[in-house]
Amino acid sequence: MADYEDKNTLEKPYTLFNNETGVSFEIPIIKSTDGPDVLDIRKLHEETGLFSYDPGFTSTASCDSSITYIDGNKGILRHRGYDINDLARKSDFLEVCYLLLHGDLPSPEDRKKFINVITTHTMLHEQLVNLYRGFRRDAHPMAIMVGVVGALSAFYHDSTDFSDLNQRMIACHRLIAKIPTIGAMAYKYSVGQPFVYPKNNLSYAENFLYMTFSVPTDDFNINPKIVKAMDKFFILHADHEQNASTSTVRLAGSSGANPFACIAAGIASLWGPAHGGANEAVIKMLEEIGDVSNIPKFINKAKDKNDPFRLMGFGHRVYKNYDPRAAVMKESAHEVLEVLEVDDPLLKIALELEKIALKDSYFIEKKLYPNVDFYSGFMLKALGFPTSMFTVLFAIGRTVGWISQWKEMIEDPINKIGRPRQLYKGHRSREYQIESSREKKSIFNWLWK
Ligand code: SDX
Repeated sequence: MADYEDKNTLEKPYTLFNNETGVSFEIPIIKSTDGPDVLDIRKLHEETGLFSYDPGFTSTASCDSSITYIDGNKGILRHRGYDINDLARKSDFLEVCYLLLHGDLPSPEDRKKFINVITTHTMLHEQLVNLYRGFRRDAHPMAIMVGVVGALSAFYHDSTDFSDLNQRMIACHRLIAKIPTIGAMAYKYSVGQPFVYPKNNLSYAENFLYMTFSVPTDDFNINPKIVKAMDKFFILHADHEQNASTSTVRLAGSSGANPFACIAAGIASLWGPAHGGANEAVIKMLEEIGDVSNIPKFINKAKDKNDPFRLMGFGHRVYKNYDPRAAVMKESAHEVLEVLEVDDPLLKIALELEKIALKDSYFIEKKLYPNVDFYSGFMLKALGFPTSMFTVLFAIGRTVGWISQWKEMIEDPINKIGRPRQLYKGHRSREYQIESSREKKSIFNWLWK
């Protein structure tokens, strides 16, 4: 990514004009290849003494990237220019991994080599396997994921000098290859079953399902339609521009932290119910609703400004239209339920909830549509995953996006440590006078009980 000289800026820059001092500041505009252009305010503080202010980064581009493009108003999601509907229906997850990492679809030879390098890195160091035994059996699998992925940096010293392209690629391949093994083992540990080692003759999604659901006592056969649905789930979760967890990975990586630690930070951020934890929260919400007759009560709670309740699986910072992934996820969930002949009463509540919400003026005005998390839980539940594993599955799919964005950042010549500023609203300078505080009454009695 070259630094932006005049060749990328539009002719007519914006001008910031201070009416009191008469001082003006010209703001260059950098053109995008698709979507909004940006105001280049990198010199704003130096030339005006001002900071920009944008908590939650609702109008702020934190970086430039060529990996994923989202048009929230039109409900468009593309990876390296390819529409998510085409990738979900015509490609497969490892091909999408190659696309995200390298920028183009692979040649037949590169495809074969890439699949081989991922397949032959799926095992974990045996010492790392012992790490699981330090957790309680009822530990949340996401807590285990954060711990084990972070610990990978302790095992792969030979691939943490990421200034070297070869080691950078080894780290990327290792993370994509090992994350399903780590996730499957987190599940096995939580149910007290023996770990199942990966098998190199299985595809990525099939290997994950094998490591998760097979037991030493029985043969393991799985319907190819279920494997395809799992593979499609990973594609739909692969990358999503500068979301909270990806921004966490980029910020951690900007300090020079090793990629394994950065991905562990991304997993921690994804865990939140406003982000990747929403798929688990959707099922819990539907269980709480319990019956279609209770839907109006919960819709009213979601609309009540004084009630913190939100309709989980609805709304999105960027999509102000239907999340294109949700449509594919809904179709996939129905297919899996049909193949497995599962009749999930919660699905009936979800379909009715979606129908009512999409007609409600509150959701229409605020452009709140179902997002990718609204339907994913049904498929995962039907496959036999406990709700506590849902965000783990999101993390398995998203790891390639995180590591591709990390790699793009590391290779960006204008990359520098991320260091946001603030709008300071605290005390101005005051003199240290301990006597005056001695007369004070404690305000923390509630704390010291
Ligand atoms: C993911 O960023 C990504 O790309 C994320 C993701 C990815 O692939 O990485 O797509 C994955 O995280 C999807 C989102 C999963 N989260 C949920 O489903 C949780 C429920 N959704 C909300 O928490 C919320 O919609 C967010 C967090 C997703 C988005 O919040 P924003 O953009 O900060 O929007 P907001 O909170 O400013 O809401 C705008 C208005 C508010 O009302 P007002 O203050 O304007 O009166 O809409 C309301 C909100 O109260 N609102 C909701 C709502 N979501 C927003 N009201 C009820 N139910 C909801 N779900």
